[in-house]
Amino acid sequence: MSTPSQMVRESADFLRSRLNAQPDLALVLGSGLGDLANEIENPVYIPYQEVPHFPVSTAPGHAGRFVFGRLSGRMVLCMQGRFHYYEGHDMAAIALPVRVIKALGCRALVLTNAAGGVNWDFSVGDFMLITDHINFMGANPLRGENDEAIGPRFCDMTHVYAPEFQQAARQVAAEQGIPLREGVYLGYMGPSFETPAEIRAFRTLGADAVGMSTVPEAIAASHCGLPVLGVSLITNMAAGMAGKRLSGEEVIEIANRRGPVFQAFIRQVVGALPL
Ligand code: HPA
Repeated sequence: MSTPSQMVRESADFLRSRLNAQPDLALVLGSGLGDLANEIENPVYIPYQEVPHFPVSTAPGHAGRFVFGRLSGRMVLCMQGRFHYYEGHDMAAIALPVRVIKALGCRALVLTNAAGGVNWDFSVGDFMLITDHINFMGANPLRGENDEAIGPRFCDMTHVYAPEFQQAARQVAAEQGIPLREGVYLGYMGPSFETPAEIRAFRTLGADAVGMSTVPEAIAASHCGLPVLGVSLITNMAAGMAGKRLSGEEVIEIANRRGPVFQAFIRQVVGALPL
C-alpha cells in the first residue's frame, strides 16, 4: 500500500511530465462554472482518468480534467470538475488533488462553487467571498494516520481563507464595480438538499451560504500549507427561503447564466492575488 505522500508524488510526477511550465496557482471550478477554463491560453488538457491514483468525477456540469495554461498573465492549473463527497469518493480522494497542486509548487488555491444563500440579505446571482467555513459534512480528510511529510497531525484552521487573498478579491470587486458579499460557507454532505429546518439551524450557527464541496479541499490545503481563496456563486436561496422547491437543474442554469460575469471576476482576481 502506498502512503498518501507516495501517491501525491506519483500523481505530481505524472502531471509535471505533461506540463510545459511551472504552475503559479490552481483553480477549482464549481458546478456550471467550468467555462473559465476555456479562456486559458495555449491550453494543455489532462483528463483525470490519466492521472495515477485519481478517481473519476461524476457530478453533472463537471468535465473531469485539468486544463493548464496562461490566464491573466499567470500559469494556472485549472480543475474543470472536482470530486465531491456525495459522489461516494472518500475524503482522501478529495484531498489528493489539493496535495498534488501543492507538490507542483502552486502558491494559491482558488476554490469556486455554487451555493445556496442562507443569509436573508443575499440574492440569487450574488457572489460571496468565503471568509470562513463550518464543516458540517460529518467527515474530515485528515482523519486516520497522519503523513507528516504532508502536514502536521493537528492542523491550525485560523486563517484557511488567506486574509491577503480576501483583500485582493475585495479590491478587484471594488475596482470593477462588482458587488461582493462576504460570509461563512457551511459544507453539507448532500446529495439531498437541506431541509428548511436545517437551513434555519445553519443560519443560527452562523452560516451565510451552504454547499456540498470546498470544505474538504480547504482543510487539505490548510494541512499542506497552501493558502486558499474561496468564492461562491449563490445559485438559489436555500431550502424554505424562496417558497419553492430546489433542483440541481436550477443550480446549473443560474450558474450558467451568471457564469460569464463570475468568470470575468475570477479571471481578474487570478491576476491580482499576491503570490
Ligand atoms: N444547498 C446545497 N448545495 C447547493 C445549494 C443548496 O441550496 N445550491 C447549490 N449548491
